[in-house]
Amino acid sequence: MDLKDHILALEKEIRELLETLDSQEKLEKFRIDFLGRKGKVTQLSKGLGALSREERPEAGKAINRMKGWVEEALKNRQQTIKARLQKEKVTGERIDITLPGRRTPLGRHHPVTRVSRQIREIFEGMGFEVAHGPEVELDYYNFEALNIPKHHPARDMQDTFYISENVVLRTHTSPVQVRTMEKQQPPIRVITLGAVYRCDSDVTHTPMFHQVEGLLVDKNVSMGDLKGILTRFVHLMFGESISLRFRPSFFPFTEPSAEVDIQCVICGGKGCRVCSHTGWLEILGCGMVDPAVFGFVDYDPEVYSGFAWGLGIERVAMLKYGINDLRAFFENDLRFLSQFQGR
Ligand code: DAH
Repeated sequence: MDLKDHILALEKEIRELLETLDSQEKLEKFRIDFLGRKGKVTQLSKGLGALSREERPEAGKAINRMKGWVEEALKNRQQTIKARLQKEKVTGERIDITLPGRRTPLGRHHPVTRVSRQIREIFEGMGFEVAHGPEVELDYYNFEALNIPKHHPARDMQDTFYISENVVLRTHTSPVQVRTMEKQQPPIRVITLGAVYRCDSDVTHTPMFHQVEGLLVDKNVSMGDLKGILTRFVHLMFGESISLRFRPSFFPFTEPSAEVDIQCVICGGKGCRVCSHTGWLEILGCGMVDPAVFGFVDYDPEVYSGFAWGLGIERVAMLKYGINDLRAFFENDLRFLSQFQGR
């Protein structure tokens, strides 16, 4: 076979082969097989030596032409494949804009926060202002000035976290009553909301919980005012149709003292396990400010009278939302917390 025929045969082989080159790997193999140092096209030049002087230039040109178009064809093929791969990549990675977006989870307010706000709004609506006091409190404010003398059982080491002999973690929000009266003269209408601490932990007690305290002092304040305000509060908090009762009780800082029970929210008053079959649930303590307390802040009990009350925020939340385990408030389990929608 002379060189011309050889070129023609090779050309035919290459043209057929080119069609089948559909990947980078095949292209590379083709380049090595034909254009590489030992490739079939490269090797053609070797045959030139066997030709006569006259034939050589013609044959040389033919070989170069061939090299030229093979290189060109390879390049085109390379581009086609590159374009195809790119297209495949783009369609494969296409963003489906009809897919729903990722949601950013929204936080919710803790039930204690929700109930605190509701209570605050109710009393603000009746003209009460919010007062504050420290959680690390002097024995004097937490006990002494609230008419709880040294020997009183409420001071028992079992209930109170002592920081030092005269400093405690407040066991209730009542000390804010005294702090407020020390700073202000009547008329006084304040509530205070916050954490309190007791050395106690079981199903119905946690070492930290929250209370709301209220205090109203003015001239001619009577037990009737106390009943009116607290009845209104209970109705706004639990609904107009709920029954409540004032039951005589005792607190060292109020005289007379009472506790308020609401009709059991679980059984509607018929009697169940939650209300110990009484039909009633205790929700707050209250009473007329004891003249002894006025004595500590130099208010004249002949001129002024007032009432105070205190309630547990977790307790209100439990009754309002039907939660039966106090510990749920402090475990930060999102499955529990996310059930409370809204503010
Ligand atoms: N401080 C009381 C407690 O922690 C609650 C309380 C009862 C507060 C009667 C008051 C009140 O202001 O008048 O149990």
